[in-house]
Amino acid sequence: MSSDKKIKIGLFGFGVVGQGIYNIISQQPELPIEIVKICVKDSAKQRAAPTELITTNKNELLQNSDIDLIVEVINNSDAALEIVQEAFANGKHVVSASKKMIAENLESLLEHRAQSNVSFLYEASACASIPLLRNLDEFYQHDNLKSLKGIVNGSTNYILTKIFEQNLSFEVALAKAQELGFAETDASLDVEGFDAKHKWIEVLLHAYGIKLKQEQLLNLGIQNIKKQDVAFAAKNNQTIKLIAYAKKINDEEITAFVLPQFVDNNSPLAFVKNEFNAVQIESNFAGEQVLYGRGAGSLPTATAVISDIIAVKNGYTYTYPKSKLANTLSFTNKQEIAVYVGFENLPDIPINEFSKIEKIEDSKEGKFIIGKILVSKLLEQQWWRKPSVSLITLAEPIAVQIKKEYSREKELAEVAPM
Ligand SMILES: NC(=O)c1ccc[n+]([C@@H]2O[C@H](COP(=O)([O-])OP(=O)(O)OC[C@H]3O[C@@H](n4cnc5c(N)ncnc54)[C@H](OP(=O)(O)O)[C@@H]3O)[C@@H](O)[C@H]2O)c1
Repeated sequence: MSSDKKIKIGLFGFGVVGQGIYNIISQQPELPIEIVKICVKDSAKQRAAPTELITTNKNELLQNSDIDLIVEVINNSDAALEIVQEAFANGKHVVSASKKMIAENLESLLEHRAQSNVSFLYEASACASIPLLRNLDEFYQHDNLKSLKGIVNGSTNYILTKIFEQNLSFEVALAKAQELGFAETDASLDVEGFDAKHKWIEVLLHAYGIKLKQEQLLNLGIQNIKKQDVAFAAKNNQTIKLIAYAKKINDEEITAFVLPQFVDNNSPLAFVKNEFNAVQIESNFAGEQVLYGRGAGSLPTATAVISDIIAVKNGYTYTYPKSKLANTLSFTNKQEIAVYVGFENLPDIPINEFSKIEKIEDSKEGKFIIGKILVSKLLEQQWWRKPSVSLITLAEPIAVQIKKEYSREKELAEVAPM
């Protein structure tokens, strides 16, 4: 693609994200992007775009030799997959925001993309406006990160913020999130931790080169959190967040999960409120860093899509530099994590499944167990998913130190004075 020519795009979807993309491009004619056609589902809807741009016939985009790149921002993951695969087959670059479609089809999408020799970028699909995936690939290319902790779902973070700060019930807070358009069309994707899991599958690929299948990554949402859990957190100067977590547990293995977690009130992630997202990265060399920003919304999401379109125009494609780590680093669920388990009836909890019990409280003061349990056990069992049970990890769920420890103090001690 020559650098003085505009890149010609076909846009699938003209909803929250699609309209944001259209608005940014039409307000900034100097951008090197031209929208050739927009494909939508419903021909009867009024659109804030010229009628000659709109079609419901996907072939006007996918078979159009004038179009270099397909932007896929629709709300149906099966149809999205077909569009993306057809675009690859027709030699067109693709930019997508559809995390569900990508996480569910990761392996085959990467294969097809490689065979077609086109670019496939999807920054907007993981934390919308936060520049995360390209940074994991490029900025942290040399850094086999110690850990990542993310608040990657805006609507659950909004709900938890309202529960803690305004004492709202879960149901009322969810209704408010839906009213404000933060929740996915299917709210269970957000509330039960699936949306966060989809994004985390993408993040783990770019941070560690690990390609996970859905069933390998443990996830629970915030639907079972009760007043007694909120009171427990407040008593300990903590809040509760839905945390997507990944940690190197030794030089060869990494573990990860998406679970509600107690977060100390003075930790950076406790300051992430409402629909905002953040990812706390623990670098081997730079210590802790936090990427923070809007994880949803029309213009924030569209800005990441447009950044990707321009990156493609400039010849960029993901090269997955961390995939070479996969030779030395493997994923495991055979890891103990420290958990709090709230309950209504103690006999509902299979105490023998815990590898260690620290405390059992079954009184007016509270009803909970604190102990350690293997992630693999949780994956195999269902008791902890019951609505009467609330499983929340402690603030530091894994207390392991990797052998090869890099520390600022060590670094300073090793550097000879000039
Ligand atoms: N909203 C956000 O903040 C956000 C953030 C990050 C990622 N995402 C992701 O971005 C994608 C789009 O989200 P959204 O919020 O923009 O959805 P949305 O507001 O519900 O809009 C969806 C659009 O897709 C169109 N569509 C559906 N099926 C289609 C098909 N088969 N062919 C052509 N067009 C079709 C719809 O057409 P009609 O207009 O005719 O109904 C509509 O314009 C989703 O995958 C979502 O997970 C969204």
